[in-house]
Amino acid sequence: MRRTFGIVSLLMTASVGLAGSSNSLMDVTPNGKALIVANNDNGTVTLVDLGKNEAVREIQAGKKPEGVSWIGEGPLVAVTLYHEKRVVVIDTITGKTEKSIATAAEPYGIVTDKGGKLAYVSHEYPGLVSEIDLDAGKVLREIPAGTMVRGIALAPDAKRVYVSEFYTGYLNAIDLASAKIVDSWKGHSTDNLARHVLLHPTRPKAYLAHIRSMIKVGDGAGSIFPQLSFCDLKPGEGKRRVSFGMDTFNGVYVTTNPWESAIAPDGQRFYIIYAGTNDMNYCSVVDDDYKEVERIGVTTVGKNPRAVRVSPDSKNVYIYNAMDFAVSVYSANMAFVKSIKTCEPTKAPEWVRGKILFNTANQPMSARRWVACASCHPDGLHDGRIWQQAEGLRKTTAFVGMAHTHPLHWSADRDEVQDFEYTVRSRLMQGLGFIKGQIKPKVGFHKAELEEKTGGRSKDLDAIAIYSNSLDYPLSPHVEAPGKLTAAAERGKKVFFNKEVGCATCHSGPYYTDSRLEKPFNLHDVGTGGDDKSERMGTKYDTPTLLNVYRGSPYLHDGSAKTLLEVVTTFNKGDKHGKTSQLPMDQTADLVEFLKSLPYEHPPEVTPNTVEFRVQPAKK
Ligand code: HEC
Ligand code: HEC
Repeated sequence: MRRTFGIVSLLMTASVGLAGSSNSLMDVTPNGKALIVANNDNGTVTLVDLGKNEAVREIQAGKKPEGVSWIGEGPLVAVTLYHEKRVVVIDTITGKTEKSIATAAEPYGIVTDKGGKLAYVSHEYPGLVSEIDLDAGKVLREIPAGTMVRGIALAPDAKRVYVSEFYTGYLNAIDLASAKIVDSWKGHSTDNLARHVLLHPTRPKAYLAHIRSMIKVGDGAGSIFPQLSFCDLKPGEGKRRVSFGMDTFNGVYVTTNPWESAIAPDGQRFYIIYAGTNDMNYCSVVDDDYKEVERIGVTTVGKNPRAVRVSPDSKNVYIYNAMDFAVSVYSANMAFVKSIKTCEPTKAPEWVRGKILFNTANQPMSARRWVACASCHPDGLHDGRIWQQAEGLRKTTAFVGMAHTHPLHWSADRDEVQDFEYTVRSRLMQGLGFIKGQIKPKVGFHKAELEEKTGGRSKDLDAIAIYSNSLDYPLSPHVEAPGKLTAAAERGKKVFFNKEVGCATCHSGPYYTDSRLEKPFNLHDVGTGGDDKSERMGTKYDTPTLLNVYRGSPYLHDGSAKTLLEVVTTFNKGDKHGKTSQLPMDQTADLVEFLKSLPYEHPPEVTPNTVEFRVQPAKK
């Protein structure tokens, strides 16, 4: 409990500026004297004294904090726990959790009003904004906000909140009086991974940092683009949304995975960080409704920057370099002041190394800095895209249960994550890679990766496997309680396990797949491969796990089915994919309810099919 008194007085001093009102892993107090950081991997928040530029204490918060906001002047902060369906209110002086508020699933971003009375939280999968009374510790309203929403910002007059859709980049305005979406700014169809929205402090402008996924291009210099979009929030005509490529913005200097942006409260400077290339642009803001920002410079920051904030007096910039587990302090013109460690990683060093490599577009992952693994698998999740690859249309998969569901890829052409050495060296990433010496060349669609043993040949490649095989995911929000299905899902379970229907012959075991490491692999033609004329690897596919399938739309390897209902009806015409044509409507609906409930209990940490390269579970 060191320096408690200093911090109490820091937090009690009157406000002199505006605290940020957009979602972030960091927040500065209105008086600019303290910073709070959410350490996503550790499940903690760290209080930083900005007078001394020192960390004061690390405080337990819960599973996967994705957003944090001071409540008024402090000393309380509100934290979203993405994996717990919960927002906690923590006293940063005592380190105690004062309130634990049950919410809808996947609370991601959080903003609070100036008085510290209300919080607004974006909920990704359910597509909601919840309004929380912070004194009462109660959810007041849940407002439909769009599809897979992450970014959230509160308008200065507190009449609207703005949210960004993660997979479309749409900006939606929600009117708080009527609890309705009243406006929407749609972008380009390739806009993707918009996890943040920022508002100008005085002018009616919103800023979205995001990427573009060019699904038809499998080339290092054309697949993923860094973008910054501006939305004009004034109602009326004119160009309502413009987007700039942050590659040409920097001449020949490529930046990757724009993650968050910040604007100084005096409206002069604009900052945007790139989580893939570990750098940031600092710009001046121009009020011309045309260029919007003018580049001053670009500077290298720490590893995997994930949050940026400006002090209320506009004089300092704070960057959270997530994979350094540290906050860097800069002056407004990007002179480096200090790096402040916020926590020690609790995960194994190999896992940390793997996550660093997975997130970077620098060598040896990529030669031209355009693409990181995380550009398509953000935090091991999917990017909501169907890529036109040489072998055919392929939906990006999330790494749910992957340690137990090898082989990999829809066509099972890989059997170790280390085989992604081939991806690193491919046209897509053009990286140097890790393995010294020869690997079997890839000729056509022959599954060379299955003949080449890539595991155990490079510590870094093994680290990528250990990280990739570690994706943690919560129980389905569609279950009533752990292990407890709704009545409809309980009926659907009977349909699923009915011998005649036959789902469980392939979707078997605790991970709902018959994938196995032993050869020959179990591949099946379930009648889904005929539609794609570009398919080059045959119409037999590896059975996907059904855990987390509720948030995996669109479905099937080519994304042809939009809903789970379509998978078992429209897209199962010849009953090749289980026998479903005889099922009455209500039983089909029940079956879908069961699928949406997976997982309803925690699957085992070890199965006969579990791979070696992963975080070994703690011995009980
Ligand atoms: C341009 C987007 C893109 C990039 C970049 C990318 N992937 Fe993928 N990833 C995909 C797609 C699409 C699939 C599905 C392909 C298939 O199954 O044939 C996939 C599948 C996978 C799978 C298989 C998951 C499973 O359960 O079968 C793994 C593992 C994986 N990627 C790891 C990586 C790694 C490691 C990197 C970086 C070296 C990477 N990916 C880079 C798009 C991408
Ligand atoms: C013969 C083996 C087999 C049977 C039986 C089977 N499946 Fe599948 N399932 C697969 C394969 C293989 C795929 C991948 C097909 C594709 O992507 O084109 C798949 C895909 C799926 C998907 C899409 C998953 C995703 O992430 O896109 C769902 C949902 C699904 N199955 C549910 C069911 C249900 C429900 C039943 C019973 C009615 C069933 N399956 C019966 C093998 C099977």
